[in-house]
Amino acid sequence: MIPYDKIVKKYGTPSYVYDIDCLLKRVSQLRTIFGPRYDLVYAVKANTFIAKALEKEIDRYEICSPGEFDICNRLSISHQKMVISGVYKEEKILSSMLSQYDDILKYTVESKTQYELLDRLTKKYHRKIHVLLRLTSGNQFGMCEQDIKDLVSHHSSSWITIDGLEYFSGTQKHSMKRIQKEIDTVLKVAEELETDYLLEMQEIEYGPGFPIFYFQGEKFDEEEFFTQVKEILDSIPKYKVTLEVGRSIAASCGSYLTKVVDIKENQYGNYALLDGGIHQLVYYGQTMAMKIPYYERIPKRESKEISYNLCGSLCTINDILVKNLQTPVLEKGDVFIFKNVGAYSSTEGISLFLSRDLPKIILYQNGKTILVRDAVPTSMLNFPNNQ
Ligand SMILES: Cc1ncc(COP(=O)(O)O)c(C=O)c1O
Repeated sequence: MIPYDKIVKKYGTPSYVYDIDCLLKRVSQLRTIFGPRYDLVYAVKANTFIAKALEKEIDRYEICSPGEFDICNRLSISHQKMVISGVYKEEKILSSMLSQYDDILKYTVESKTQYELLDRLTKKYHRKIHVLLRLTSGNQFGMCEQDIKDLVSHHSSSWITIDGLEYFSGTQKHSMKRIQKEIDTVLKVAEELETDYLLEMQEIEYGPGFPIFYFQGEKFDEEEFFTQVKEILDSIPKYKVTLEVGRSIAASCGSYLTKVVDIKENQYGNYALLDGGIHQLVYYGQTMAMKIPYYERIPKRESKEISYNLCGSLCTINDILVKNLQTPVLEKGDVFIFKNVGAYSSTEGISLFLSRDLPKIILYQNGKTILVRDAVPTSMLNFPNNQ
């Protein structure tokens, strides 16, 4: 049990707590379910603060921007564990990577232009690399089947080895039919590349977009879900299969702590104002205010329950974390602990809105806490620098 009361006393709110013990347990659970055939890639975008803790547990890091590379590089994450991905790969950045390092070996290719760029730069810097060609799922990411086939048929570089395909169509996927269809699509292209284009396919990197169910009352048998996904994946004949996962690795380890700073009532209801808000708490897509997320309250209070709208401190009527929450009477200073926020909340929130400070970030492991990011003022980022 995480001693949230002590953490609040020591660090204050709003803050995120990432429980590393829980994170490592989660990865080990995924490994046990899927078994040794499947490599795990961690999509760093989900949460950069836990990346280092995963180093021994995962096979690769998916890095999608110069910023993510800088973070992982400064964390001394092995270059050999990186796959340099992303829909826009700047020439300047690729040049600097390829000229400086001979051990960043794996890249994805999302367009013919990206391939030509890598072709040119690997020749220039005499670097041997491996690539995965991203097959599009019908959007701006990846290449269509024909472009991939053209690319493979014209591929002659001795610096680049095409290892196989990458496919990711979106997050929070729970339709088994959809997963089956995606795997069928990828396999069809892979087999044609082998038979018609004589490509030695080694690997399929697949982002399954495993879902997290964030709200109370939602029914989801995760074990059964994973068993069925594994059955589909097991049907992939011979290639190495790498699962590219963010949310499902990171979500459960995180909690978001935010304090009641004001309470008021009008003819429309009771309002508890919190020092956090929806800019720092990102559950997937939906207007979550209508649903009740998993949460705890400290201190525990025994009293009759009344209904509150939990609102953040942004200047928008949309800043509602939970609507009509039935809970014992609140007092100023009470703290809400929202669960399962380890993925995307600290990286995807509209955190610059209203120039409020970014929350503190605390890692918790083996009974100890460590502050890995202090509160960060954002006013200077929203300040016109010529003044
Ligand atoms: C290419 C790619 N792979 C993997 C992921 C991670 O997805 P998820 O967090 O649903 O596992 C993303 C997320 O946007 C992605 O863009």
